[in-house]
Amino acid sequence: MNQNSGSSHKVMTIERHLIEQQRHYPEATGEFTNLLYDLALAAKVITREVRRAGLGNIIGATGSINVQGEEVKKLDELANGVMFHLNAFTGRVAVMASEEEEDLLQIPDEFHKGNYVLIFDPLDGSSNIDVNVSVGTIFSIHRKISKIQKGSIHDCLQPGYKQVAAGYVLYGSSTMFVYTAGNGVHGFTLEPSIGEFLLSHPDIKIPSRLKYYSTNEANTPYWDPQLSQYLVDIKQYQGISSRYIGSLVADFHRNLLEGGVYLYPRDNKDPTKTEGKLRLLYEAAPLALIAREAGGYASDGEGDILELIPQAIHQRTPLFIGNYDEVKKIESLCKATAPK
Ligand code: AHG
Ligand code: MN
Ligand code: MN
Repeated sequence: MNQNSGSSHKVMTIERHLIEQQRHYPEATGEFTNLLYDLALAAKVITREVRRAGLGNIIGATGSINVQGEEVKKLDELANGVMFHLNAFTGRVAVMASEEEEDLLQIPDEFHKGNYVLIFDPLDGSSNIDVNVSVGTIFSIHRKISKIQKGSIHDCLQPGYKQVAAGYVLYGSSTMFVYTAGNGVHGFTLEPSIGEFLLSHPDIKIPSRLKYYSTNEANTPYWDPQLSQYLVDIKQYQGISSRYIGSLVADFHRNLLEGGVYLYPRDNKDPTKTEGKLRLLYEAAPLALIAREAGGYASDGEGDILELIPQAIHQRTPLFIGNYDEVKKIESLCKATAPK
C-alpha cells in the first residue's frame, strides 16, 4: 500500500467525535451523547426526504397520493414527524416542542421519559422547498428542570443561556450538521455514499471581517427609521456585499463561515411581525448559542437573545445575529432611539 495515498488520514465520524467529547465528562451516562447521535440520524432521514422533494407527484399516482396509496405529506410535516418519532421512544427526552405544533409534544405513556427537553424547527425556510433552494432543521436541548417525569411547559420556557446544546442541519449542496454543546462549534458534512457525517469544520469561529449583510430588503420601509438608515449606511462599508436566501439556517451558516450579519427586525406593516417574525425558542435562541460559541453575538435590539425569558412557546422576536461588533453596534443604535 502506498503510505502517502492519504488512506491513513484521521477520519472523524460524528459518532467518534461525540464519544471523544463525552470523555471530558467522566460522570456522563451517555444519554446526552446518544441524543445528539439520534439527531444526526434524524438529519439523515430528513435529508433523504429533502433530496426527493418535488418527485412526490411524479412517482406517486395522482394528486397528492403517493405510490403506497398514502397521502404525500408536506415536507415540513414529514420532517416534524421524523424528529418526533425518532426521539419519542429512546428514553432520553421528557418533552418536546415543535414550531409545527401548537401544543407541547408529550412522550407516549408506554415509553420511558428522559432528562432532556428537545425543541425544534423541523424544516426552516419552507418557502424555498418548492423551488429547490436550501432549507434546514434547527434544534435546541435543555435539561429538564421540573420535577414532573413527563416534563412541563416550564421545561420549555427556559432562557437560551441554559441550553445544554443547540444545532442545525443545512440541506444545501451537501447536508451539514453543525452543533455546539458549550465546547466550540463543530460542523460535519454528510458523506452520502457511506451515510456518515464526517467532521469537516472543527471549532468554527466567525471571521471578524464583515463580508455580508443579509436581510429582506423589501421590508426596510416598514422598519424603525434608525434601522432603515443603518441599511443605507452599511452599503458604504469597505468590501461589503449582500446575500439573502430566506432560509435562516442557510443565511446564518454562510455568515458564520464567511463573516456577516443577519437582520430580521420588527416591522410596522405586517401585524404578525410587530414583535419580529422569527421564533425565539425554535430559531433565535439555538442560533444565538452557536453564534456565541463561535465568537459572535445575537440581539433582539435591546439585549442578548440568550437572556430573554420566554413567555410562550411560539413567541416571536426581532433578531440581529452574526459578527459580534456589528450586532453590538446595531443594538446600540436601537437602544439610542428606543422610546423611554
Ligand atoms: P419557517 O420556514 O420555519 O417558517 O421559517 C422561515 C423564516 C426563516 O427561515 C427565514 O429567514 C425567514 O422566515 C424569511 O422570511 P421572509 O420571507 O419574510 O424574508
Ligand atoms: Mn424557521
Ligand atoms: Mn419551520
